[in-house]
Amino acid sequence: MWNSGNPEGLDTGKVEGHSPGLYMNYASTSPRQSAGLTQALIHYLEQNQHMNAGRNFEGLEDGRIQFRARRALARFFGAPGTSQVIFTSGITLSLNMVLCGLLKPGDHVLTTHVEHHAVSRPLSRLQRQGIIEVDLLPCARDGSFDPALIRTHVRSNTRLLVMTHGSNVLGTILPVSESVAQAKALGLFTLVDTAQTAGSLVITLDEHTDVLAFTGHKGLRALQGTGGFVLSKEAARQIEPWISGGTGSVSESFEQPQFLPDKFESGTPNTLGILSLGVAVEELLGQDLAHIREQELQVTARFLEGVKHIRGLKVHGTGKAELSTPVVSVSSPAHDSGVLARKLYEEYGILTRCGLHCAPLAHQCAGTFPAGTLRFSFGPETSCQDIDRALYALDSLLRS
Ligand SMILES: Cc1ncc(COP(=O)(O)O)c(C=O)c1O
Repeated sequence: MWNSGNPEGLDTGKVEGHSPGLYMNYASTSPRQSAGLTQALIHYLEQNQHMNAGRNFEGLEDGRIQFRARRALARFFGAPGTSQVIFTSGITLSLNMVLCGLLKPGDHVLTTHVEHHAVSRPLSRLQRQGIIEVDLLPCARDGSFDPALIRTHVRSNTRLLVMTHGSNVLGTILPVSESVAQAKALGLFTLVDTAQTAGSLVITLDEHTDVLAFTGHKGLRALQGTGGFVLSKEAARQIEPWISGGTGSVSESFEQPQFLPDKFESGTPNTLGILSLGVAVEELLGQDLAHIREQELQVTARFLEGVKHIRGLKVHGTGKAELSTPVVSVSSPAHDSGVLARKLYEEYGILTRCGLHCAPLAHQCAGTFPAGTLRFSFGPETSCQDIDRALYALDSLLRS
């Protein structure tokens, strides 16, 4: 257990000037990509002629890269077929494509009070345009969510439940399986944001889930600017293509092809990014997610235990590692979170993230709006010693 004061032999990491030393901002992006990625990218750049998949014979290798990535992602997310994997530039685009392609005038949407702007902003825009109505289902102060609320808020025109699997502010894991099951029983379309959980918690396209949206650069450990969504065939029929253009198929028609994946993939693809997704997800398929989760639980539990003993610090979220992703938000009435984050970085080389984290709703829910919080988030490289170093630094700053 961690206690305040410098444990014997601990490198406190106190630094002179800037040093990126200790990265604790994994909820934002993963600082390291999967192990085999650099080599695969170099190989592609050295060997490949940069042909366009599906556009000419020479593009066969790029087509193979896409197929390999689709196959890995289909297995990873439990999609029945490779064509049910759609590539985008990231989960923000995925969510916009599904929301804007699905929702029609008069539709009512249910969502939660801890969503990221990738969900809340497109919904808010559609609402302001008078196209849809939105109900924010309340979450408790710790971000936990009761799926029974879906039944009590559903209306005759409710079309969709869209929710995140994990709060990027509070770390709280939301009960997606129960929620999508409830929503499906009421005839709703279901869309899940896996940005904070894919790569450490198992989440699959089951019979209650219409679309799982994912991003490549966090837990999946692919390149930034990658992501996509997996969807059921029935869901694909219901979503209009929000972006249309060249697909290299059915070129005689001015209509977007209706078959997958072309219906949702227009323009020249990001082959390097897709290669990175394929390599990273194949690597994850060869690992035990339970093992990744176990390591996350260990460091998160150690941090949560330690911050309890730091005077003047409030911990937000459930305070329980097993109910949380490796994300912990803290605040202090006596210290601005931005100042703390800056001092942690400048004096101890510890990189965290402060403010509202593109999720003001979650802060409203936790009572930390508009000041925001100081957020620590951990990943596979975070060790118990790193946690102790962060606790020591935080404790020292709060005492000063
Ligand atoms: C829950 C959640 N959804 C969506 C996003 C947006 O991800 P991206 O920037 O990769 O599109 C984030 C990013 O932090 C997130 O935490």
